[in-house]
Amino acid sequence: MDHVVTIQDLANDDIVSVLDRARELLPVAHGDKRNDVLAGKILATCFFEPSTRTRLSFETAMHRLGGNVIGFADPSATSHLKGETLADAVRMVAGYADAIVLRHPQEGSAQLAAEISEVPVINGGDGAGQHPTQTLLDLFTIREEVGKLEGLTVGLLGDLRYGRTVHSLAAALARYDTTMHFIAPKSLAMPRRVTTELPDGWSAHAALDGILPELDLLYVTRIQKERFPDPEDYARVAGAYTISAEILRDAKPTLRILHPLPRVDEIATDVDGTDHAAYFRQAFNGVPVRMALLEMLLGSD
Ligand code: CP
Repeated sequence: MDHVVTIQDLANDDIVSVLDRARELLPVAHGDKRNDVLAGKILATCFFEPSTRTRLSFETAMHRLGGNVIGFADPSATSHLKGETLADAVRMVAGYADAIVLRHPQEGSAQLAAEISEVPVINGGDGAGQHPTQTLLDLFTIREEVGKLEGLTVGLLGDLRYGRTVHSLAAALARYDTTMHFIAPKSLAMPRRVTTELPDGWSAHAALDGILPELDLLYVTRIQKERFPDPEDYARVAGAYTISAEILRDAKPTLRILHPLPRVDEIATDVDGTDHAAYFRQAFNGVPVRMALLEMLLGSD
């Protein structure tokens, strides 16, 4: 594995290796144990779009493994502002670091970077494209919370059109004999480029009613305001779904709710204290999972 641009870049064995290793690395991720396997290595985090979890968990992962980090979170403080192309920037950064995490608003940007870079490029989210390392931590969380990946019934709810996390996740869940329910307003349905790659076993719905009692897992997403070309289109779907503790009375007691975060209003705060809420643990899991991935990409030479 050289680059991680899409979840399809990872074979089933790669995924299992990352998840198993992430589990072993939990004490290091918590800071209870030392591991300097990436001493002398440099990770560049190049974020052309806002991020809290992806950037900071990658940086923590690198530090916890004894490595160093360079990068930026504000592209307006870089030569991007002077008109430098992404291709030129990647060419430079590949000379300064041993791997690059790139977040960029343009779909396909990570693929472009991977074609130019001589060091591994990890897609930290490319527009409405994919977010493969989020999927790795989602799978890790599912396995830890539910105990298995195979044969689950999963609802993916919210902005399935612009939400890149669900594009990667649906492709990954398809490998585990998952029954998938896509719940979204019609204008935010899962794109055909994603569904055409899925085997039978998925269905689309406008509402959660009737489906909730079947679910082992509900993956909620924010409506991605920043991706709507027309603010009026956003206004028409804003607040379309709110998961509350009351709604969850119809759910299995073992249902787990995941969300890549940040949330706006799609999960009420009264859910946070219930056994269903797994999203803050999910966010932490970004550290051990990204440690495992970085070790796999950088640790052997
Ligand atoms: N889940 C996720 O990608 O969060 P950030 O946008 O904060 O990185």
